[in-house]
Amino acid sequence: MAHINAHYNKLAAGYLFPEIARRTEIFLEKHPGTRVRKLGIGNTTEPLTPAVIKGLKAGVDKLASPETYTGYGDEQGNKLLRERLALYYTERGVSLSSEDFFISDGAKSDSGNIQSIFSSDSIAAFQDPAYPVYVDSNVIAGRSSGFNKDKEEYNNFVYMPCTKENNFIPEVPDQKVDLIYLCSPNNPTGAVATHDQLKSFVDYARKHKAVLIFDAAYAEYISDPALPKTIYEIDGAKECAIEINSLSKFAGFTGVRLGWSIVPGDLIIEGTTPGEVRKLWNRRQSTFFNGASNIVQEGALAVFSKEGLQESKNLVQYYMENAQTIREGVESVGMQAFGGINAPYIWLEIPSGLTSWEFFDKLLLETGVIGTPGSGFGPAGEGYFRLSAFGHHKDIKAAVESIKNNLRL
Ligand code: MLT
Repeated sequence: MAHINAHYNKLAAGYLFPEIARRTEIFLEKHPGTRVRKLGIGNTTEPLTPAVIKGLKAGVDKLASPETYTGYGDEQGNKLLRERLALYYTERGVSLSSEDFFISDGAKSDSGNIQSIFSSDSIAAFQDPAYPVYVDSNVIAGRSSGFNKDKEEYNNFVYMPCTKENNFIPEVPDQKVDLIYLCSPNNPTGAVATHDQLKSFVDYARKHKAVLIFDAAYAEYISDPALPKTIYEIDGAKECAIEINSLSKFAGFTGVRLGWSIVPGDLIIEGTTPGEVRKLWNRRQSTFFNGASNIVQEGALAVFSKEGLQESKNLVQYYMENAQTIREGVESVGMQAFGGINAPYIWLEIPSGLTSWEFFDKLLLETGVIGTPGSGFGPAGEGYFRLSAFGHHKDIKAAVESIKNNLRL
């Protein structure tokens, strides 16, 4: 008799964003005709840029002729793309080999899959709140014995609270852990870790032979030159950190799908020699994944052309103008807002003692605006609410106007 993977039954809730969509649908059934404005999931809205479209078309054209047709590609990803990515990091003063790069269909899959190469009894630590994939994938892998309803936490996991008091960047764990998930710029809080803060994690990881899993999907939203855009800006990080990144938010690839993970040859953990962990990830990927689409990889190469980079930076600028509109708008009605300066998410403190989901309902009812309840990202997110800066200018402005005119605080 077949049985399901019972670890799925331990998941405390449905995946966050479908849950928001479900509740929105119910709301619309009850309030037909309401104009809803979506600032919930961070979903890009602006078209792919001309350089990328040209790259994608070139990728299609290559498939049209026997001389240039390609089938399965290099398992780690198009060599030219990996070399271009390595060069992109070199330009930021970080030296990595193209062999350290693994092209994928996005940061979400890599964030979920990376835990599979580590021992099932690894102790995992998470920023709280955090992008739900890190926690959920470790629950599914069996690293938690279940959800503790009183504490709103999964057993066996180490939560690193990100609070107003620590500017939403946690301290290193005060116990020994094996895997540490970090995301900077942070989804959902919009906080960005400094060099010193990241250095404390690198020092911790090297001391305990732990691995940092560093999600840098929003790195291109950093405009402050003093803030690190990659974990490898920190000395010693190549020995202890895996970085995950993506073109979703930089170049509008949310639906196109292209990401990469960096597993440096220098990375060592308990009982391994240099190169072993990288080899393991290669083994995992070549077993479960046949590579990102060759057309999409051509599009990705175009992102890193001179024009492509400039156009993508303009795209980031476009969304950051929204972030400013949102931040100024919510502050003008007296709410306390965080993030939105070097990140496309604005993290609001909810006034008047409402829970995050109660505020979700209130905001939707009074203003038609959909956001994301902070508690959906973890227990420390309770009392907070995330607004996403991804949207057309006119829609974001209309949402902010509606908040200003209709929200009763
Ligand atoms: C978010 O809204 O947190 C992200 O856009 C979702 C994702 O990247 O998967």
